[in-house]
Amino acid sequence: MARPEILQIAPMLPVVTDQIAKLFTVHRLWEVADKEAWLAENGSRIRGVAAGGHSPINETLLGKLPSLEIVAAFGVGYDQIDAKWAGNNGIVVTNTPDVLTDEVADLTIGLLISTVRRIPAAERHLRDGKWPSGAFPLTSSLRDRKIGILGLGRIGKAIAKRLQAFGLPISYYGRHKQDGVEYAYVADPVELARQVDVLISVIPGGKATEKTIGAAVFEALGPDGIFLNVGRGTVVDEAALIDALKSNKIQAAGLDVYADEPNVPAELMALENTVLLPHVASGTVHTRNAMGQLVVDNLVSWFDGRGAVTPVAETAEVARTKGSKA
Ligand code: NAP
Ligand code: 8YV
Repeated sequence: MARPEILQIAPMLPVVTDQIAKLFTVHRLWEVADKEAWLAENGSRIRGVAAGGHSPINETLLGKLPSLEIVAAFGVGYDQIDAKWAGNNGIVVTNTPDVLTDEVADLTIGLLISTVRRIPAAERHLRDGKWPSGAFPLTSSLRDRKIGILGLGRIGKAIAKRLQAFGLPISYYGRHKQDGVEYAYVADPVELARQVDVLISVIPGGKATEKTIGAAVFEALGPDGIFLNVGRGTVVDEAALIDALKSNKIQAAGLDVYADEPNVPAELMALENTVLLPHVASGTVHTRNAMGQLVVDNLVSWFDGRGAVTPVAETAEVARTKGSKA
């Protein structure tokens, strides 16, 4: 039987490319000069897509692949993929949950302490030779702080577990109060911000959450408040965040994600009260390889007729009903 034809949208790690090259006929779209012409001529043979976490996979592209069965995406967040359209059109979308949860939670704790204790600034003080002329100023503390988590999902819970060990009280916001969760639920993000001193966002991106964290949240968080975002940059009104930081409506922010990556607003970069990371929360060799392996596992399992390993919610029904299509 002919090997399934897979469209790879952008470069991926060797753990993905080496394995899929052995099992499938792989087409590398980013290397094609005239993509439209290529898709018109070859699109009907494509049965699978291997997608990087940030490649937009919308109706325009999916509509050019009439035999498509599965989009296997690298990353747990899939806001770049029109999963609803895929689900309505019989296509399964898979992501890479769980394998990155601990890594992202670890990084979040690092970012939190870096922001509260100003670790990057303290290191710059030493490297710039300023220590002999004076000690680095005293900083704020994690002691006596209350933590609010926006989006208590897999990663939010792993962050909460770590912060429990720090002895800090935790509450959370999401669309639903969760059964069996010991942390206090607050049904409104502004009210949660009012009740805590540190607000950590791990909410997914996409239209539904765009700019949901804005001026009112920062106002409520207050002048001692620390804001962290490790979810998606689009969830935050960046202009309101910059204003809150500049006018000391909040104390500081630690960010791993931005609205228009890799473009980070110059105003954010100029501020002393920010710690800014270039979307690295899952960025270790160990975890990125595990994510890549899950991309491969989804494709292999699907084309072996064993169904998708980690289908996203919007395409769960397609995964259930068409799971052995090969
Ligand atoms: P998850 O288990 O699905 O958790 C998502 C949480 O967000 C849930 O608790 C959900 O609670 C809440 N939520 C979903 N939609 C919402 C909405 N419209 N309004 C308010 N809350 C909403 O996902 P996860 O594995 O923890 O990952 C979370 C996100 O982290 C990913 O989607 C991704 O964007 C981001 N992420 C970033 C990095 C990085 O490198 N910085 C790495 C991995 C993941 P309710 O259903 O109760 O609302
Ligand atoms: C990215 C992430 O996927 O999983 C997610 O949702 O944000 C990250 O792990 C990573 O930057 C790979 O593109």
